[in-house]
Amino acid sequence: MVHSYKTLSQLRLLLPLRFSLLLLLSSVYTVADKYFINCGASSNASFYNNSQDFVPDINSNFPCFSTGKSEQVSNTSASIQELYQTARVYRQPCSYSFEIEQNGTYIVRLHFFAYLSRVANLYDALFNVSASGFSLLTNFSIRNSSGSPVIKEFFLTIPQGEFKIHFIPSQDSSLAFVNAIEVFLADETRITDNVTRVTSAGNVGNYKGLLSQSQVLHTIHRINFGGSQNEFDDLWRNWVLDDSYLILNRDSAKNSTPHSQTPNYDPARATKYTAPDRVYQTAKQLKEVSGNNASLLNLTWRFPVSKNTRHFVRVHFCDIMILDLRILV
Ligand SMILES: *[C@@H]1O[C@H](CO)[C@@H](O)[C@H](O)[C@H]1NC(C)=O
Ligand SMILES: *[C@@H]1O[C@H](CO)[C@@H](O)[C@H](O)[C@H]1NC(C)=O
Ligand SMILES: *[C@@H]1O[C@H](CO)[C@@H](O)[C@H](O)[C@H]1NC(C)=O
Ligand SMILES: *[C@@H]1O[C@H](CO)[C@@H](O)[C@H](O)[C@H]1NC(C)=O
Ligand SMILES: *[C@@H]1O[C@H](CO)[C@@H](O)[C@H](O)[C@H]1NC(C)=O
Ligand SMILES: *[C@@H]1O[C@H](CO)[C@@H](O)[C@H](O)[C@H]1NC(C)=O
Ligand SMILES: *[C@@H]1O[C@H](CO)[C@@H](O)[C@H](O)[C@H]1NC(C)=O
Ligand SMILES: *[C@@H]1O[C@H](CO)[C@@H](O)[C@H](O)[C@H]1NC(C)=O
Ligand SMILES: *[C@@H]1O[C@H](CO)[C@@H](O)[C@H](O)[C@H]1NC(C)=O
Repeated sequence: MVHSYKTLSQLRLLLPLRFSLLLLLSSVYTVADKYFINCGASSNASFYNNSQDFVPDINSNFPCFSTGKSEQVSNTSASIQELYQTARVYRQPCSYSFEIEQNGTYIVRLHFFAYLSRVANLYDALFNVSASGFSLLTNFSIRNSSGSPVIKEFFLTIPQGEFKIHFIPSQDSSLAFVNAIEVFLADETRITDNVTRVTSAGNVGNYKGLLSQSQVLHTIHRINFGGSQNEFDDLWRNWVLDDSYLILNRDSAKNSTPHSQTPNYDPARATKYTAPDRVYQTAKQLKEVSGNNASLLNLTWRFPVSKNTRHFVRVHFCDIMILDLRILV
């Protein structure tokens, strides 16, 4: 018996803010319609293995940041990646605006990397981030990030118009910052609006409105089962190895032999933006066990999540065992 669990990504639904100013927005996607912003910088920074330029946030109409009090900070230490060497710091509520030309679901990614600079100690920052009436990050700090960037990713359904991301420093710290911002259309990821709902009591029904404008998805885990390395895909998402999440019957799990053939992407179900070839070409499988034991075994993974929060779980299967390479998501 072979379980070819493929990939699982889990997103958290955020509830709308109670008093929101509900604004705006929407966005755009053609290759030209993506926003990759190098905050607080005066020149481009190349990122994602030099495949994407992040452009400075100054001297452009869109995105534009509100003229509230903000400062550019930098630390050009060679140990810091170029994109993170600069940041924009806010000491009072401030926002970035983006012009969104097309209704749709967008990926919004915020990059944070703390360091000391002459102007501010970014480790002291404590702030909220909101957009489209949703609280994206609350009392957020990266004091404990120990030298790694922290990247927060959200899926928002945004209407055409102006889209704003608000940064609100806490009264205690009076400091908020951001190093880089990405906003781009996620339509090709094939997240559908109507999904199966499973309650904590195990009841099964339907859930309609996953992509409505009344909620936001926050990516918590994106897992590549059976791979030998983390995979970055064409949307610059990081698919992390499953091994450290496997809790039961670890000895019974093995990585499948990777396949070299390209999966059959049925455009109605999956595109290479849903997950890349390399993610579908590997799987975690149960070792073949002789005797009666086989029926007792199963593989179990554990993923930390927040309590009292709805989660969207997407499990991907690609049949690389009997080699028809079809994908089910
Ligand atoms: C910065 O990157 C953008 C987007 O890739 C590009 O159009 C522009 O020419 C670059 N500017 C410089 C000075 O390299
Ligand atoms: C975008 O969505 C709004 C409703 O939210 C609708 O009125 C409008 O026609 C849509 N625009 C396009 C270009 O689809
Ligand atoms: C820049 O960051 C490095 C590493 O965090 C730190 O050692 C150095 O003191 C910082 N430079 C300035 C000018 O604050
Ligand atoms: C965030 O901080 C504020 C002020 O310190 C506090 O009142 C609030 O309860 C905190 N919220 C959360 C969710 O931790
Ligand atoms: C961060 O580290 C401090 C001690 O340095 C600790 O008190 C705090 O709980 C940590 N916060 C998180 C979110 O881990
Ligand atoms: C940040 O959000 C929390 C939770 O919604 C709230 O209690 C706190 O007052 C907010 N802080 C600021 C400075 O708005
Ligand atoms: C959602 O999907 C289920 C099962 O596929 C279907 O029965 C139901 O009618 C759908 N609901 C809507 C509102 O489309
Ligand atoms: C069944 O599994 C147990 C514990 O893993 C092991 O001790 C036993 O030898 C196995 N039996 C067979 C027939 O493989
Ligand atoms: C999976 O295996 C564990 C222990 O090996 C067992 O307790 C659990 O009931 C099994 N679950 C299923 C669904 O078979």
